[in-house]
Amino acid sequence: MAQKREKFGGQMAVILAMAGSAIGLGNIWRFPYMVGEHGGAAFVIVYVLATLLISLPVFLAEVMIGRRSHTNARDAFARLSRHHPFWKGAGYLTILIPTLIACYYSVIGGWSVEYFVKSCGLAFVNTTPEAASGLFGTFVSSTWTPVIMHLVFLGATVLVVAGGVKAGIEKFSKITLPVLFVLILLILCYSVSLPGAGEGVRYLLHPDWSELTPRTFAYAMGQSFYSLSLGMGAIITYGSYVSKKENILATSTGTAVSDLLFAILAGFAIMPAVFAAGIEPGAGPGLIFQSIPYVFAKMGVTLPLVSSVVSIVFFLAIIVAAMTSCISLVEVGVSFLMERAGMSRGRACLILYVICGVFGVLCSLSFGPLSGVKILGMSIFDLFDWVCSNILLLLMALLVVVFVGFILPRRVVHDEFTNRGTLPFNDRIFPLVWFLLRYVAPVAIVVIFLTNFIL
Ligand code: PHE
Repeated sequence: MAQKREKFGGQMAVILAMAGSAIGLGNIWRFPYMVGEHGGAAFVIVYVLATLLISLPVFLAEVMIGRRSHTNARDAFARLSRHHPFWKGAGYLTILIPTLIACYYSVIGGWSVEYFVKSCGLAFVNTTPEAASGLFGTFVSSTWTPVIMHLVFLGATVLVVAGGVKAGIEKFSKITLPVLFVLILLILCYSVSLPGAGEGVRYLLHPDWSELTPRTFAYAMGQSFYSLSLGMGAIITYGSYVSKKENILATSTGTAVSDLLFAILAGFAIMPAVFAAGIEPGAGPGLIFQSIPYVFAKMGVTLPLVSSVVSIVFFLAIIVAAMTSCISLVEVGVSFLMERAGMSRGRACLILYVICGVFGVLCSLSFGPLSGVKILGMSIFDLFDWVCSNILLLLMALLVVVFVGFILPRRVVHDEFTNRGTLPFNDRIFPLVWFLLRYVAPVAIVVIFLTNFIL
């Protein structure tokens, strides 16, 4: 039974691995359109506060559960609660949520594949900026291409999970994340220099408080959890690989800050281009696929070679960032089927491919032929995203903070946070973290969750 679990080698490795899971489409694709749909700068401010005051404590709590229990997300709750039936049941949510997210995450992964293919065909360089931006509408509303691309992206992800070349992909992502970072900076510089871009910068810097509604809080918190891979077992699992010597406050803060930085940079790279191109900021999930090609086409007028190279590398980097995140989503379900149902890895992968494939096809078609199908006033895609990010993630995060704040003994939490009292700084701020975990986070999550429904 007592298998030797792998450990991450050192603080930097921990931050990189966690940042690899956290940084993905959530930052580059989802954050900018959430900002556009929910009030610009006001949303950004709420998002930053939610990340520091609520998500960071939840992140710490997940790392503690993982490191303390030294096992997978589902069994972690069972083990630490001494097999209490409620917590054993709660652990199952950590399997359901990532599987549901993988269904629609891979649709956006598919869009990135299509845009990579388009970049290779120089589609953005040989056209006007307006036409480049307009390509999205035609693409997404068509039936076959988005579906095929989704299945290709999901297939590649599942193959990696099946073949266990994960280690290779993760090494690869250590290169692509910095590349993506540099490219986003480059696009940011170019994008703010476009005529009309100033309006976009103002949109991100000057809050219009009248835009702030209870929904803004719910969406900002949901986005923050989503972006940090919280509420779905991923960080608990990674926490179980963190060695007892590591200072989890330092690693968690490092991850949260780099994730935040990535999202904000993406916002500043995309919003100015959105305004320069005359796109509606609340255009929804297609936002970056409309604004970024506009930037590349503009750039292509004077610098065709640079624009072609940058667009190809940019979409490739997005695909890899999305794949590293999607791998961790699929792996949760696969390991569950293997351990609990005794399936082989190959068969478990096939089952997940079919489940996520079928539901993903429905999500994909909801931008085209099924766009008329509305459930609770939402398209199928929006419904999946809403149920996961605004309901299940908040629920799971609540369970995590209640578990650490009220079920685990304070002594255990203190031990984990301070490495048995050997980290003086952590020892000093422990009361603050304990307070945030026990009172601020659960109350905020419940209040935000409820107001979202009532108002
Ligand atoms: N955090 C990832 C992103 O921002 C999404 C993700 C969530 C990945 C949970 C893995 C687990 O794209």
